[in-house]
Amino acid sequence: MPDARVKKHPTAKQIEKLDKHYLWHPFTQMQDWIKDPQIIIESGKGSYLTDVRGKKYLDGVSSLWVTVHGHRKKEIDTAIANQLGKIGHSTLLGLSNVPAALLAEKLVRIAPTGLSRVFYSDSGSTAVEIALKIAFQYWQQKDAKYRSKTDFISLREAYHGDTLGAVSVGGIDLFHQIYKPLLFSTTKIDSPHCYRCPLGKSLPGCRMACAQKAEAIIKKHAAQTAALIIEPLVQGAAGMLMQPHGYLKAIRRLCDKYDILLIADEVATGFGRTGALFACEHEGVSPDIMAVAKGITGGYLPLAATLTTEEIYRGFLAEYREFRTFFHGHTYTGNPLACAAAIANIDLFKKEKTLRKLGPKIAFLKKELRGFAERAHVGDIRQKGFMVGIELVQDKTTKRPYPAEEKIGIRVVQECRKHGLIIRPLGNVLVLMPPLSISIRELERMVKIVRNGITTVTESQ
Ligand SMILES: Cc1ncc(COP(=O)(O)O)c(C=O)c1O
Repeated sequence: MPDARVKKHPTAKQIEKLDKHYLWHPFTQMQDWIKDPQIIIESGKGSYLTDVRGKKYLDGVSSLWVTVHGHRKKEIDTAIANQLGKIGHSTLLGLSNVPAALLAEKLVRIAPTGLSRVFYSDSGSTAVEIALKIAFQYWQQKDAKYRSKTDFISLREAYHGDTLGAVSVGGIDLFHQIYKPLLFSTTKIDSPHCYRCPLGKSLPGCRMACAQKAEAIIKKHAAQTAALIIEPLVQGAAGMLMQPHGYLKAIRRLCDKYDILLIADEVATGFGRTGALFACEHEGVSPDIMAVAKGITGGYLPLAATLTTEEIYRGFLAEYREFRTFFHGHTYTGNPLACAAAIANIDLFKKEKTLRKLGPKIAFLKKELRGFAERAHVGDIRQKGFMVGIELVQDKTTKRPYPAEEKIGIRVVQECRKHGLIIRPLGNVLVLMPPLSISIRELERMVKIVRNGITTVTESQ
């Protein structure tokens, strides 16, 4: 066991020792973790992270897709400090607090039209759980003829979080398969993924056959279905799978036609990631329920929200004795510090014209990434805004994937780290998700390190 005395002024080496002795990291094979040297972050500024040894890294995944305006952003630091001078936490169960109410109004103002109520929680997973439970309870309370609407439709390859409801509507076998006995069953529709189209077709000739196939399934299960849940435009954790333009709108139309609620999981896509504040905006879609988290606080504190329409909210109003209350709430729901950070984060979008400045950066990134296409093992480059997936393949012509044992993504990521860039792989897909505030020069540097990393790892074998 590490010596307890090291904790007062620990050296980098001592901290790593403590980490390896006491911590259990998420999505991590700890047997590998404890063997290798690890990066331990001590501070950050703008697009950079600095480790305990003083080495600087570009944060190419926005600290797991959350950082928006950069690290140590003055306005967000100040908002949290000011709130800290008032109160750190007070409950929303039976009480309210100032930032929670102010933020709710702001969220409704910026959300797709029709979403008018805000239910807070603290992670993307909980925001999704809440969306599922609200959808379920809504139909149970609506009218006896809707009682059969107890099921959900979701997409294959979907990722909606790690709690059991979210896993039930998930579709990534590697993460989800083992828990199957614990999950409620859901109806799956194919992931509309053009590079590896499940129907073996291609755009535009296919005329979005995936949406037509989805209709057959939705129609068949409509009477039993409470809601369809979708990551709008981009299935992130699946490997940045991009939906063809018009797919989301088609799904919205089908949900309307067959009386099914549409849940948009904007946990990853929300707060500017795709180039619009919410991905749904690209197709003029308003969901019935929307889950947001990650970027909501600009990457500072854990906060999430599930937004619903007024119609759904009203479905829960009644005399107490009728027990239509939504009996759900997490201890830190509406935490004032997190809400204060979120308010400052949203205000910065306007103050700094974040989305307007993002347009040219997205275009620059697109242009730079084009150069990757020639590399021998780059199979597909997928980009929507600042969400990028670069799929590495063993054989470009046949699209044959690298076997998992080759850890090709992990190896490229490790190579990039040597040159001062933090990114993460999703299997054979390299993910680039820089903070929206990144500069063109930093973007250029990020792309260069990734390009060299791919070349070194895939072309030197
Ligand atoms: C689309 C989507 N939904 C939900 C989640 C779960 O969010 P959290 O990790 O905050 O629980 C994620 C996380 O990556 C996500 O990408």
